[in-house]
Amino acid sequence: MSEDPQSRHVEALALDPRVDSPAREGLTGTTRAGIYEGALEAEDTTVAPDGRPPEQQPRWRQDFPIDWPADQYVARRDFGRFLVLTSGAFVAGQAWIAARHLVRANRPPPPRVRIAALDEIPAGSASVFTYPGPADRCLLIRPDERTLVAFSQMCTHLSCAVVPRIEEGVLHCPCHEGYFDLYTGRNIAGPPPRPLPRILLDVVGGEVFATGVEERSV
Ligand code: FES
Repeated sequence: MSEDPQSRHVEALALDPRVDSPAREGLTGTTRAGIYEGALEAEDTTVAPDGRPPEQQPRWRQDFPIDWPADQYVARRDFGRFLVLTSGAFVAGQAWIAARHLVRANRPPPPRVRIAALDEIPAGSASVFTYPGPADRCLLIRPDERTLVAFSQMCTHLSCAVVPRIEEGVLHCPCHEGYFDLYTGRNIAGPPPRPLPRILLDVVGGEVFATGVEERSV
């Protein structure tokens, strides 16, 4: 045994290398069992309302040990998850809108297309044409001698075809009783949420041309 007090202390702490040494009792590997057990913070320790230790609590409380500090911790964590998820969804939505806007902005402008001769549409009548694509059905309407308007025929609710009722001054959607103003295309009754897209017209030399589509949100 060393006389040096520091050496004696080191020797006392040294681990006996024999596997069956009594000094290893209660040890895992070379480290004391339970050395990594986390110590609970005071605020994370459950204290029953009556202040008695858990083993003296009634059976129901032992069976359902709802830990208030832990419960609040989980609630905070869930709230954090909720915030992350909703923020992620918001960012994804904004990115999708921005991407859609970019795609639309880079789309080539609709072509100028002749759609009818003016004298083919007498006052008080309407005709169907497609614009800008072959599947985009539109209505050309001449409610009176001096007025010529055109709108997409696709209802802004669920895309049914609207029908002009020229005498009543409306475009009617028979699917869910939606109504649009015949002159402006604005939604005036029923479920349609926004006006019909307006087709821009140009009349030159008795010929009617479609020159663009005006999407409207209000
Ligand atoms: S599709 Fe036109 S009102 Fe529903």
